Amino acid sequence: MTADPRRSPLGPVGAAEPSTAQPGVDSPRAQWLTGVGHVSYGGDYNPEQWPEEVWAQDMALMREAGVNLVSIGIFSWGLLEPSEGVYDFGWLDRLIDLLHAHGIRVDLATPTASPPAWFFHTYPHTRVVSRDGTVLGFGSRGMVNPSSPEYRRASVAIARELARRYGRHPALALWHVHNEYGAPVSEDYSAVSAAAFRAWLERRYGTLDALNAAWGTAFWGQRYGAWEHIDVPALAPSIVNPSQRLDFARFTNDALLECFVGERDAIRAESDVPITTNFMAGACPSVDLWRWAREVDIVSNDHYLTAADERGHVGLALAADLTRSVAGGRPWILMEHSTSAVNWQPRNVAKRPGEMARNSLAHLARGADAILFFQWRASRSGAEKFHSAMLPHAGTGSRTWREVCALGAELGRLDEVLGSRVRADVAILWDWESFWAQDLEWRPSEDLDHRERIDAFYDRLWRDGHTVDFARPDADLSRYRLVVAPASYLLTAASGANLARYVADGGTLLVSYFAGIVDENDAVHPGGFGAPLREALGVSVEEFLPLRAGERVHVALDRAAAGPAADHAGLELVGDVWADDLVLDSAAVVGTFVDGPAAGRPAVTRNTHGAGTGWYVSTRLDVDALAGLLEPVYRDAGIAPSGLPADVELVRRHGADADFAVVLNHGDQAVDLPLTGVDLLSGESAEGSVKVAAGAVRVVRTARP
Ligand code: GAL
Repeated sequence: MTADPRRSPLGPVGAAEPSTAQPGVDSPRAQWLTGVGHVSYGGDYNPEQWPEEVWAQDMALMREAGVNLVSIGIFSWGLLEPSEGVYDFGWLDRLIDLLHAHGIRVDLATPTASPPAWFFHTYPHTRVVSRDGTVLGFGSRGMVNPSSPEYRRASVAIARELARRYGRHPALALWHVHNEYGAPVSEDYSAVSAAAFRAWLERRYGTLDALNAAWGTAFWGQRYGAWEHIDVPALAPSIVNPSQRLDFARFTNDALLECFVGERDAIRAESDVPITTNFMAGACPSVDLWRWAREVDIVSNDHYLTAADERGHVGLALAADLTRSVAGGRPWILMEHSTSAVNWQPRNVAKRPGEMARNSLAHLARGADAILFFQWRASRSGAEKFHSAMLPHAGTGSRTWREVCALGAELGRLDEVLGSRVRADVAILWDWESFWAQDLEWRPSEDLDHRERIDAFYDRLWRDGHTVDFARPDADLSRYRLVVAPASYLLTAASGANLARYVADGGTLLVSYFAGIVDENDAVHPGGFGAPLREALGVSVEEFLPLRAGERVHVALDRAAAGPAADHAGLELVGDVWADDLVLDSAAVVGTFVDGPAAGRPAVTRNTHGAGTGWYVSTRLDVDALAGLLEPVYRDAGIAPSGLPADVELVRRHGADADFAVVLNHGDQAVDLPLTGVDLLSGESAEGSVKVAAGAVRVVRTARP
């Protein structure tokens, strides 16, 4: 029997159908994180880099620091399988037994993010080919083509061997499949991927006519008459068909997900221990975590501060909220962050005293029930020797070590927080497919930046003290008072209808420019720009009026329409980057362009639709100007800024018997907050007021309101 080339070797995971199913089935496996009874604490542990005498010292120091979970074997393929099909598990046997003897649980990785030298020597065509045709070499990590049958076979084989050997070991708490799928490279442009892409397209479209229609191949004479004529969207003389590139991004996501599912299923056949893979929510754009999260037992995430960003704690909060959201609100694992500086940014800024604990507890505040680091002991050799660690090169006399031990002790006082949930009144729409589409070439302005808009709106909401969920545009949004759509370039007609329903049922929707422009094929919606949003917003866009570099426009907010916002100091807001020539349908004008290409035309509109309102803003407002815009929007939504001091963050987790207010003071002044309860970290009780020192954190068990 000849194999059907359209069939994926691992089954039809790659089907591109969207789904709104929630992740992390509530199986006993998904409950492990909470059921273990304490906040998990530890990090990546790479003892194979050290003589075994050091391991005993590691055990003693881990106990001293309060470490109770370590991730091992992540990059150990070359040691575990020194030649194809020949295994050496001796050192791993000894290591796992040693950890078990010291009461430290094991998060055992499959080492498939870094295939050994023999693998690339035996199967040289599995190396990644980049878009310009360069074949990436060995001596690094993560440079394998995810569609390669040889890679899939070999990665499933090592996963199965590990699961057979350790799947029932009493020390084993968690499986850690691979490492950061999609990084450092995701797309592969080899002939192997081209064949797999064609098979994927056949599954998606069935007929060439359907593919030609979806890709609009009548344009530039690209019509295909045979499947074998279709190629990967490698570099070409001019830009490549954007629909083809969008499908290639989907195909790549699916190919990576098939790799994960292949390993996961091989493990599951041998072991009932929960399975995760570490995501990079917010940092790795090439994998669609709404889909991935449904395939893991427990969601885990890696997060690193961007040293250049002095408000890195806001980016941290965004990543944590996004992680919780893809986890469907369930507790999740912070699989990696750093004790101090990383080593891969242009300038690697060390964390200030207390910052590591504050970062850790900020993740916990937003739903993490496990706090882990990269890595336990700093490496002497290799690419990451200048990366911080729990046990740095400076050893146990260091500030980092003292803070690591102190944090371990603090987390040990937070058992009762485990499993409690975060609730949000506000959601921001987040859609990886839309980002993939918007990032392609020849958009109306190179200043259109979906991530910048999301960050700006998120920052505004953060400053106003709102806890935020992220949501798919087709999700049930009814629990949110306010839904913000800063970057919904690709929006299907069905999602537009979902948003209209949300508004009609009483919701408040705020949409920023360049939204609802194309459908799932990156084709402009029939009926013009913004057509799927017309019902909710009561406006449509006749023409884009992008601004020149540095050009600014002024927006006058209308007193009557903005209501109490008229008292706001910033009655005139300054925008840049963008303007639209808007056509009003049922919406009222709340803000008018004073100058620029749309002078005298609407800039901000408000539409009553059913029981709710739909707002539209057609220029780029910075974080300060967004305050002026959001004031009347909040009023429609029935919410208000928290009034917390600047740089103070308060997030609540709701447990079965109590609530926990996590207060983080990122500023350099002590603050007093009106809270009553017990600070679990210090044991202090507070009646009506809690003092939070500069840089400090409180976790206050509060009475139910
Ligand atoms: C992560 C990766 C780790 C380590 C870390 C350094 O992205 O998973 O293995 O390289 O970065 O910050």
